[in-house]
Amino acid sequence: MRPIFFVASMVVGLAATIAASYAMAQSTHTATPGAVTAATTLDPAKTFSDTCAACHQEDGKGIPGAFPALAGDPFVLGPMANPIGVVLNGRAGMPTFKADLTDDQIAAALTHVRTSWGNKASAVTAADVNKLRTGDAPLAADKKPIQAH
Ligand code: HEC
Repeated sequence: MRPIFFVASMVVGLAATIAASYAMAQSTHTATPGAVTAATTLDPAKTFSDTCAACHQEDGKGIPGAFPALAGDPFVLGPMANPIGVVLNGRAGMPTFKADLTDDQIAAALTHVRTSWGNKASAVTAADVNKLRTGDAPLAADKKPIQAH
């Protein structure tokens, strides 16, 4: 076998392997047993109350100068990847919840945030959170800007 042909067939084989494993990764995401297709299995209001309200307050208005308001906040109403990222990874005084909350809990808390106190943005699913947690595919749901008001 001539070396150039050998290298070429290696490359083709490798590409096929990558494509196959990518396809597998994609399909495991849609076919994971127990994957949540509804927004969440938890109570969004209770999850927010238990994990976020100590700082952001039950009314979502936060405490000026300490904890930002989530009610009417363009950041939480915009592409869901942004608030999901902040909850997963933290930012300044906002703790990271990556290790402490499940995808479902984060989805529930952010669903409450995005749909309460007059906020009208889409619900967040556990699958949405998982995509960002694992650094996988971009979120499809937020291609167009959300009209907050
Ligand atoms: C210990 C207090 C504390 C808790 C608990 C907390 N946060 Fe925060 N959060 C903060 C602080 C402080 C900031 C501002 C961070 C900064 O200045 O960058 C913040 C920022 C945010 C932001 C970004 C707001 C913006 O306009 O940029 C979001 C979204 C958010 N928090 C959501 C949540 C959610 C959802 C929970 C519950 C899962 C939660 N937070 C729990 C303290 C907290």
